[in-house]
Amino acid sequence: LASLKELDGGVPAPNRVQTPDRFTKAVAGEFDNQSDSDPSLPAIREWAKDVLSRVPGSTLGVALVESSRLETNDDVDTAIARARAAQQGWGSLTGAERAKVLRKAAGMLAAKRGDLVEVSASETGKTIAESDPEISEAIDFANYYALLAEELDTVEGARFVPSKLTVATPPWNFPVAIAAGSALAPLAAGSAVVLKPAPQAKRSGAVLVEALWEAGVPKDVLIFADVTEGPVGQHLISHPDVDRVILTGAYDTAKLFRSWRTDLPLLAETSGKNSLIVTPSSDLDLAAADVVRSAFGHAGQKCSAASLAILVGSAASSARFRNQLVDAAASLKVGYPQDPETEMGPIVEPAEGKLKDALTTLGEGESWLVEPRQLDDSGRLWSPGVRVGVKPGSYFHLTEFFGPVLGVMHADTLEQAIEWQNASAYGLTGGIHTLNPDEVTQWLESVEAGNLYVNRGITGAIVRRQPFGGWKRSSVGPGAKAGGPNYLIHLGSWEREDLHP
Ligand code: SER
Repeated sequence: LASLKELDGGVPAPNRVQTPDRFTKAVAGEFDNQSDSDPSLPAIREWAKDVLSRVPGSTLGVALVESSRLETNDDVDTAIARARAAQQGWGSLTGAERAKVLRKAAGMLAAKRGDLVEVSASETGKTIAESDPEISEAIDFANYYALLAEELDTVEGARFVPSKLTVATPPWNFPVAIAAGSALAPLAAGSAVVLKPAPQAKRSGAVLVEALWEAGVPKDVLIFADVTEGPVGQHLISHPDVDRVILTGAYDTAKLFRSWRTDLPLLAETSGKNSLIVTPSSDLDLAAADVVRSAFGHAGQKCSAASLAILVGSAASSARFRNQLVDAAASLKVGYPQDPETEMGPIVEPAEGKLKDALTTLGEGESWLVEPRQLDDSGRLWSPGVRVGVKPGSYFHLTEFFGPVLGVMHADTLEQAIEWQNASAYGLTGGIHTLNPDEVTQWLESVEAGNLYVNRGITGAIVRRQPFGGWKRSSVGPGAKAGGPNYLIHLGSWEREDLHP
């Protein structure tokens, strides 16, 4: 509920349309919650074509990745000692002084928008339509955490004492925005950071870190560390000199981290199995478009993505809705990001394991409304799949897949739909489409998810407007939401000035 309450004046977020003028402002680094831009606009398309032509063969970030490998436990110990020593100076700056550097970082990210799009598309297959707003989100994080850093100075009678060292372990699916948020929050708080990029998105992390260094973040305060996932990675995460680990990833990864160090101070956003309920009182055309956008944006690889549409009563039998859903899914232009027309890109790695099963195998009573097809030999390029007949309690109902496959469930009542929505062990995002205010109230009172959306898609949270974070097994740690007002205070502690003059 928090995210709804935090909407400005209770008014829903504005329509996600962006004019070229707002885009220009974003490029200039001005803070206007620029999380959404629209790369289909003509002025941006020309720019995008040029950027995307560089995607095949892109080598941005290679040099830094190669020079930043931590091969041994000793390498890790040295990096940690360097960061903790450098933190003394950084942490003794005022919040306002650090905010200045963060605002420069925002400008630098805007200036490097093209490089960041290029490297993320090249590594992860992210399309221009998905990666351009991601750069805007990174800029938002820089400007917003700058504001929060300034606020740290204003608490009377208390002084904020930052954690000395934060390890940031961002995911590959938002290789710029979440990496930026996970590094910039502790930096704003006055902590030093060791940023360990996701193995699939190392170069994106490197280009991001170079931008932050150029903006004035000292190199020892923000250490970029390519750490292997084996014992050396474990040594870093479980190191007693690490004060906080920020993780965005699987719930099992959080559990693994905790098994390495039981008292690990973790601030983690983990796994999700998100659904969107559509009731007969909704605008069914809009609902179909939002279901498809939420399910297949970034090929279903957002932690916020809709994996299920739960249709209530006659919404389930509406031929019009079904046709809209089929048309919208089947007409998505699937391809690689270097083609600016691509609407859905490849998945990050060849499909295997449970995702391959979800794309190729049906459960009992299920059938394909839109059958997914493998479009080339890479194993990465799949057309979207929509399966109907998903039963409550079934494998598809309760498992996270992280790919371009949507399941449809049919509930008799809204109450039943909410029960099925809440049956998940996770609770990251959730949505409802209905124009009936009583149904909205009923839903809000019972839904168990961190980010709730009414009559819009369930992805694309906007920094400050919709602080992002989960509930149940979608969150491990204090539960602070990224891009929200309570995030920074978990990266340090308060001391009373009368006790510590
Ligand atoms: N913040 C992203 C979204 O809202 C997910 O990580 O879609």
